[in-house]
Amino acid sequence: MDKRLVVISNRVPVPDDGGPPAAGGLAVAVRAALRGREGVWFGWSGQVSDEPEETPRIQEAEGVTYVVIDLKPQDFEEYYNGFANRVLWPILHYRVDLAEFNRADLGGYVRVNQRFALGLSSVLRPDDLVWVHDYHLMPLARLLRARGHFNRLGFFLHIPVPPPDILQALPHHADIVGSLIDYDVVGVQTENDRDNLGRYLRTRGARRTGDPGVLATEDHRVRIGAFPVGIETDAFARLAAEAASSEIVTDMRESLSGRALVIGVDRLDYSKGLTNRMDAIERFFEHAPEWRRQVTFLQVTPKSRVEIPEYAAIQEAVSSAAGRINGAYGDVAWTPIRYINRSYGREDLAGLYRLARVGLITPLRDGMNLVAKEYVAAQDPADPGVLVLSQFAGAAAELPDALIVNPHEPEAVSAAIRRALEMPRDERVSRHAAMVEALHRNDVSGWAAEFMAALVGDVPPPAGEGASQ
Ligand code: F6P
Repeated sequence: MDKRLVVISNRVPVPDDGGPPAAGGLAVAVRAALRGREGVWFGWSGQVSDEPEETPRIQEAEGVTYVVIDLKPQDFEEYYNGFANRVLWPILHYRVDLAEFNRADLGGYVRVNQRFALGLSSVLRPDDLVWVHDYHLMPLARLLRARGHFNRLGFFLHIPVPPPDILQALPHHADIVGSLIDYDVVGVQTENDRDNLGRYLRTRGARRTGDPGVLATEDHRVRIGAFPVGIETDAFARLAAEAASSEIVTDMRESLSGRALVIGVDRLDYSKGLTNRMDAIERFFEHAPEWRRQVTFLQVTPKSRVEIPEYAAIQEAVSSAAGRINGAYGDVAWTPIRYINRSYGREDLAGLYRLARVGLITPLRDGMNLVAKEYVAAQDPADPGVLVLSQFAGAAAELPDALIVNPHEPEAVSAAIRRALEMPRDERVSRHAAMVEALHRNDVSGWAAEFMAALVGDVPPPAGEGASQ
């Protein structure tokens, strides 16, 4: 029988009784890993409380045991808003200029990781497989080992890994990123990320082994691999086809009055390239006057991490750019950009993706970007829309049949939007078919299965793979 899997992530979306399962890439991916086996999902409840209970809360739902803890206000500030999202997030997204390090935040990060390790100690059995997710929890393996847990420990980073020079700008990087060496398997999104991490760990004394995917220290070996996260391709395609006649899609279609729709969906974050995208849209209306009044841009951008000043600043910049463009090009019966700060459910988004002639996904850096994959899966294969995708999204490595753009060049993005809108159906159909094939080759269950195979140690010799580059 399969061993029990214990998944750990910062946030744990405990399903409400009877409510729909949480959307979001990490949640869908973790659910795929837990499907069909005994599983525990451990992490933060999302609640902040002055006096959190010492013992974790446990709830069973859909065959999974959810084990959650609350955070104190100081933990939330130092660990989540502070070190995780004001230091690690910008540095791992190549934005050293935005990192604001202080020792108190680092202390809070380590303290919360210790609380996780302590909470896990009461849950872990010796033969559990353990899979830790994302940058909030890098040192957990080291802390669990120190508490005497010798389980197989895996880690998956959902966000990018920059080159060693950038990682070394992180104060105390050896204790944080360097501690990844204590896992048995570290998975990242792309080969580029894998090579960067391999090079970094070698600056920390890890050496190559005969197996190109494995690095070794004196007393430990770690497998490093690219495991690009996927989506539930067929299920998402079905959802989109069903949603084509839903109320929201019908309302949207009617409100377009025959105009083409271009859609962008991103959490409000400076890594998503939203101001650059606004610049590109402005160029587009400037250089393609025949498209004015013929196309509507819908930018759906739920706010996130609102306590962090950089996030307030990006909101200001994007909303004022959208206002400027609407003021310059709009008229009484047409608003060029609809900029919306709320989130929609999976089904609504699937239907909107299918309605859109263009998916415009232009992050400055992104671990994977599952919106890009979902946009492709949502299309009608007989008359699909076109994906315009940043070369700096992890998804670009798997989707070369998108129109790949450099988000830093507004003219190029503007030209790609125009090309997408004017692309003949034959070309759209063949590009879409190639992309759907890529999605099928690596959907989310395959992703989970491959990582789990590496975690249990059942890995075929990797062809051309290597932490050694
Ligand atoms: O993938 C990056 C990530 O931080 C995930 O860990 C998280 O689920 C998502 O982005 C949303 O971020 P947050 O939990 O900070 O709102």
